[in-house]
Amino acid sequence: MLLRQYGIRFGIMAALFGTLAGCSEKAPKKAPPATPPGGVARQTDAPGSEQRKASPEEIADMTPPGDAADSSPADSETEPSVDLATDAPPEGPTVPTPATPTEPAPASANQVLLGSAELTAGIPGDDGPLSVEEIHAWLDQPENHEVLEIELPLGLKAGGYGKDLAQTAPLTRAKIELGRQLYFDTRLSADNTVSCATCHAPDEGWARHTQFGEGIGGQKGGRNSPVSYNRIASGAQFWDGRAASLEDQAVGPIANPIEMGHTHDAVVTILQGVEGYRLQFERIFGSDKITIDDVGRAIAAFERAVVTGPTPYDYRGQLEPFLKLTEEDFADDAELKQDYETRLAEADAHPMSESALRGRNLFFSEKINCAHCHVGANFSDEKYHNLGVGMDRPEPDLGRYNVTKDDKDRGAFKTPTIRNVAQTAPYMHDGSQKTLLEVVEHYQKGGTPNPSLSPKIVKLVLSDQDKLDLVAFMEACTGEFPEVQPGRLPE
Ligand code: HEC
Ligand code: HEC
Repeated sequence: MLLRQYGIRFGIMAALFGTLAGCSEKAPKKAPPATPPGGVARQTDAPGSEQRKASPEEIADMTPPGDAADSSPADSETEPSVDLATDAPPEGPTVPTPATPTEPAPASANQVLLGSAELTAGIPGDDGPLSVEEIHAWLDQPENHEVLEIELPLGLKAGGYGKDLAQTAPLTRAKIELGRQLYFDTRLSADNTVSCATCHAPDEGWARHTQFGEGIGGQKGGRNSPVSYNRIASGAQFWDGRAASLEDQAVGPIANPIEMGHTHDAVVTILQGVEGYRLQFERIFGSDKITIDDVGRAIAAFERAVVTGPTPYDYRGQLEPFLKLTEEDFADDAELKQDYETRLAEADAHPMSESALRGRNLFFSEKINCAHCHVGANFSDEKYHNLGVGMDRPEPDLGRYNVTKDDKDRGAFKTPTIRNVAQTAPYMHDGSQKTLLEVVEHYQKGGTPNPSLSPKIVKLVLSDQDKLDLVAFMEACTGEFPEVQPGRLPE
């Protein structure tokens, strides 16, 4: 029975993907391909995942990954530590499993869906500071110290991110919660006014709507605050990748004179003096002496729990292969029909406009090819490219060059994610572009000319409608952020 069912399903999906593979050629010239890249890409848990050869993200990945003339982390010291190229689903590709578009509730206590509020909503209890008793009670629950088995939400899930974390940087509820407290605690800054959340604010897209980050005493740096979500999908940190890991990155701002303006020693002393912190560090890291590295580990754990939820683009992607099926295909397979109906309902509840669908085609098209760099489940190749932003200034920020001193890295910056980008204006490393439309127009004119301009950045022929469509597509890449408790810090 099972075999028969799988046999049929395999046949249907094979036929389906056969059509897809050829669809862009067969389709009338003007009509957009029925399933553009990106559509099927999210499709890792589709009944047809055994057909992953058709995955457009893999196709996208097959386009020269090295961006030969651009800088590639492969020849730099800050090689991404996460294997980014893999959009392969964590599961083996051979066993066709019934599709489960809606995540089933995890079975055991240590299985969690990243992005769910239970991880970031703080220690339960009344509002107000955390008492030592509350912290004791929290730390005394064994499940808060169990290493979590994580699952990523639809969309990001296709990236298979964080697979090695259990070995390299295990996540526990207690560690994530400690990181949450540190992230929102202004005691980490010299004058007690600035926390990580000052520049990476949950209600400003985990970034900041100012051109530059503003640290203690209102001091400004020269770079725009990037997002602190989906860091689990990312290796080297900062616009220029100078921090090899999230742990390294997290302790940087504390000692940066224009950000939090403290010293690591002073911060450790302050935390050591707060009983609630001392108890947590001791229990979580097993030493009665707090270290700055453990501060970094806890903050990084919290940041890894901050991921974007499924977007209209993802819901549409998981529906699309089913749109090719006919009543006949469903006749024999109630389960397949059920999958289809669930996906249809989810896509209907999170619709993509016609404009966004056209924009998606442009984004992934060979001609426009934004996905050359904004690739994979988190829409970033994690590499460095020169778009010419700010290169017309007398003393431009040389970006990646400052790290590698390699001429080809002049003015190159790390590709940011497109997920939730609609919520993180202004844009680019220098916050110089105010809207997504302005960004699209920068690409349209082929960037700002300069000797190190990426060869991938060329003038684009885009109608006004095309530009709006690209913006609509990016807006359709917006999912929910996890609910987070910004208060409830140790008293
Ligand atoms: C004064 C504003 C400010 C504060 C405070 C601040 N940041 Fe940042 N953050 C920035 C800016 C600006 C950058 C980009 C700097 C660069 O690339 O050189 C950045 C970069 C980052 C990145 C890298 C993201 C990426 O895409 O590579 C992460 C993660 C991050 N910050 C997290 C934190 C954490 C955690 C804290 C608290 C310990 C913190 N930030 C405090 C402004 C700030
Ligand atoms: C050659 C690689 C490359 C291509 C192709 C590319 N991008 Fe980018 N994109 C980047 C990099 C690198 C940055 C950051 C540049 C900087 O700050 O100097 C960026 C920045 C952006 C931003 C701003 C994000 C933020 O958080 O500040 C958006 C939006 C964006 N790109 C959309 C697009 C669209 C739409 C296309 C296609 C028309 C496209 N990109 C094509 C590499 C690329």
